[in-house]
Amino acid sequence: MMAPNAPETRPSPLRTAASLLAAALWAGLVVLVKRFPPDGRDHGDLGQFVGRLHPLLVHGPVALLILVPAMELAGMRRDWAHLRSAAGWILAVAAAAIFAAAFDGWLLALSGGYRGRDVTRHLWGGVTLAAVCAVALRARLGRGTGPARAAYPLLLAASLGLMVWTADGGGAITHGDGYLTAKMPPQLRAWFGMPALPAKPAEAGPGVPGAFHAGLLSADPSNPAFYPVHIAPLFARSCVSCHKPEKHKGGLRLDSYEQLMRGGEDGKVVVPGSPWASDMIRRLKLPPNDDDSMPSDGEKPFTPEETQMLDSWIAAGAKGG
Ligand code: HEC
Repeated sequence: MMAPNAPETRPSPLRTAASLLAAALWAGLVVLVKRFPPDGRDHGDLGQFVGRLHPLLVHGPVALLILVPAMELAGMRRDWAHLRSAAGWILAVAAAAIFAAAFDGWLLALSGGYRGRDVTRHLWGGVTLAAVCAVALRARLGRGTGPARAAYPLLLAASLGLMVWTADGGGAITHGDGYLTAKMPPQLRAWFGMPALPAKPAEAGPGVPGAFHAGLLSADPSNPAFYPVHIAPLFARSCVSCHKPEKHKGGLRLDSYEQLMRGGEDGKVVVPGSPWASDMIRRLKLPPNDDDSMPSDGEKPFTPEETQMLDSWIAAGAKGG
């Protein structure tokens, strides 16, 4: 005699073909990511054009994936059972959307000159998430059988956790590390076991222990405080979008004093005491349409006064830290 759920457990050729196709596509993505990891160089405008849709694309799967457990839970009420029967379909769309977003993310990272640990982690987070979702879907569709029934909620929970982690990694690449927690109230930081943030210089006034009269000291370009007060903010405004840990264009990072002094792939860009020998000054003084001119595109250029300020700081020994 046939069990009532027999049609569920019988392998359907269509389902097997779909699973094989999904596995092949995923394996293809893994091969691409391994063979062509993001290496910090530009690889063409078309790839970047399509890749730049990634920040837009990722929001779809996030919303869809959150819907799945919400519908499964709500559908436990008998009169909302229709929600539960639609959850599998939503999960299938979510899995396809995650795959597309992961592929596009790889394209963006490779073609747009990204590299670094955060990028690699985020990329593999997305690729793994696509696999976990596909396996969860497989378990959902094979619900008649015991082990799959037990594994499904676990796989779903794992994909939600992995999604939050991956999304946070993406946020860190776009907005900088700690974007989410930078403005968190101190009590909440302590509750999560996170270290306290250092006090902002603006909050430290005279008489406060360790107060740093940065404004007063830094009018003199030979003072190391000149760098954090006058120079670093200019880089942050006009240069760091392309010269940061995830994206060192020309092998150069301008997000810290140490990195600035280390220079780029053509060597030192700042020669202390010699602004005329510093490649950075040369590039800042070029006409904007010159290929070597910096910032290369999009960002606000330095005013002549700002370039002069950098020049005097380098002439005075380029001290900082
Ligand atoms: C839109 C992206 C972008 C922005 C913004 C940008 N750069 Fe660049 N930068 C590049 C690229 C790409 C290269 C490598 C190609 C080249 O050498 O021209 C580069 C190379 C450099 C180099 C040479 C590094 C080396 O060793 O070869 C210096 C110096 C430099 N940039 C300084 C700056 C400064 C200063 C700013 C801010 C005023 C800035 N860049 C803003 C994209 C950018």
